[in-house]
Amino acid sequence: MDLEQFCNQFEDVFKKEEDIDNVIQEGRVLLSELMGRTDWFQEFLKRIILDASFRQQQKPSRWLNEYLLHRSPSGNFVVLAYIWEPYQIDVIHDHNSWGIIGTLGGRVSERKYRRVDEGTKDGYAKLEEVSHKLVLPGETTFVREMDKGIHRMENLTENAISINVYGKSLRQGYLHYYNFQNKTVSRAYVYPLYRAALAVKTLGFMEGDTAKNVLEDMQNQPIEDLLKNEVELSLVRLNASRE
Ligand SMILES: [Fe+2]
Repeated sequence: MDLEQFCNQFEDVFKKEEDIDNVIQEGRVLLSELMGRTDWFQEFLKRIILDASFRQQQKPSRWLNEYLLHRSPSGNFVVLAYIWEPYQIDVIHDHNSWGIIGTLGGRVSERKYRRVDEGTKDGYAKLEEVSHKLVLPGETTFVREMDKGIHRMENLTENAISINVYGKSLRQGYLHYYNFQNKTVSRAYVYPLYRAALAVKTLGFMEGDTAKNVLEDMQNQPIEDLLKNEVELSLVRLNASRE
């Protein structure tokens, strides 16, 4: 099976299946078949190297090693590739959609986590590891949205390739990065909002009246709702640090 055949057959799955669990199950079988060959991926790599305009069609992503292979015209799914640096370890994160993750080359491991705190304290998250397994070439794993899909991938080799399929995004504008040891969680916004959100967050740690004045002024400015939320949280932080 090549990429085009995979995309056509997976598109057909959505015509007969409404239950996402079944879509994922059938998608995993198809993705395993796609990963039985690497010639289609080598052709893709050749095009990325030689065709500058094709390369520029790749949109900026939060992951620098991400390649867009296919965007379903119906909007049902996207197919992405990730090329791993030697022994690269991902940050623990969640997702805005369901996803199927396959290994095309190398040896990759996946740790899955679940949240065991109540999610009521901003920035705090306690995780528990629920599984740790290898995803060998031709094998797949999957995630569901948000708290149901917290995981971390790790490349155990010099070079590895993951082929991932993701469903429709929840479009909340961010996902979460977790730190297991420090029990922290942060909102990782889509670019270019990420820079602005980090700027707002940082003002919440600044001493003196300037930061407070800037943040209060922002409450009356026409900025994105997501940023407004960050402004409010930063002001809460500033006020709490002064008490
Ligand atoms: Fe992931």
